[in-house]
Amino acid sequence: MTRHFLRDDDITPAEQAAILDLAVELKADRWRDRPLEGPQTVAVIFDKSSTRTRVSFAVGIADLGGSPLIISTASSQLGGKETPSDTARVLERMVSAIVWRTYGQAGLEEMAAGTRVPVVNALSDDFHPCQLLADLLTIREHKGSLDGLTVTFLGDGASNMAQSYVLACVMAGMHVRVASPVEFSPEASVVADADAIAADTGGSVTLFTDPAEATAGADVVVTDTWVSMGKEEEKAHRVATFGAYRVDAELMALAAPDAVFLHCLPADRGYEVTADVIDGPQSIIWDEAENRLHAQKALLVWLLAQNARVDGEAA
Ligand code: CP
Ligand code: NVA
Repeated sequence: MTRHFLRDDDITPAEQAAILDLAVELKADRWRDRPLEGPQTVAVIFDKSSTRTRVSFAVGIADLGGSPLIISTASSQLGGKETPSDTARVLERMVSAIVWRTYGQAGLEEMAAGTRVPVVNALSDDFHPCQLLADLLTIREHKGSLDGLTVTFLGDGASNMAQSYVLACVMAGMHVRVASPVEFSPEASVVADADAIAADTGGSVTLFTDPAEATAGADVVVTDTWVSMGKEEEKAHRVATFGAYRVDAELMALAAPDAVFLHCLPADRGYEVTADVIDGPQSIIWDEAENRLHAQKALLVWLLAQNARVDGEAA
């Protein structure tokens, strides 16, 4: 079976740790691994806008000896005349992996079911698992380890970032707190999946409505835009609803004294976070952005190796 990375828990906790270890090695020795030498091509498809994901995949694929093919969905047949499954069956004849930023998770699942090359979720409405590999790498760099840390996500708990935080951090043995209005809680099924993982890793997930209670003593404080891509029409309601969850200096003061602040970017200063916090001494957002490159390279190296093994067994 081809391994894909459509959501954070498509890998095991041990595999997550191995990918993070590999990312550390590749960050120290950037051109060490060249599994895409040839060059082999990786298709990177965007239904939504992107700066970090586009650049980090393009540069990372080139670092690995490969050739990135960046495709804007609007200028392709995907999403209009052609299904994800048919697109996948064509691409697998020519490329070594498919990376896709899209809306619904179901499209990614259809794409993955239709192909024998690995499919990577570069952000969907439900999850942003590549971002979480980068975030965990960044937290590990600044805190030394992940196991047992408390991380608080504030704002849109039903967003791709919040749901990936819930899964990926519990996998790493962390205690995840999500502070959001009840209306914007993570999906119950995602929390149930995280609870099942937590039973093995010693992590935990707890939902809060009170931002102060959720932030008290936290080692890591995280937020994200209140208006994710595709939700623009809900902006007025969201801005009116999320105000109490803004990360400002007063809220940060409730976290541990050495707490760090993360934001996947792009940020709306003055909305989900004040400028003094995101641009202040506790913010590690630029390391976080850079780590997209190293984490995704490690993911690709690992996925390609897994699938080479599968192909070898099939031969
Ligand atoms: N964090 C992130 O995914 O950024 P982009 O939307 O710029 O890719
Ligand atoms: N939650 C945000 C993340 C952007 C990288 C969005 O989906 O727009």
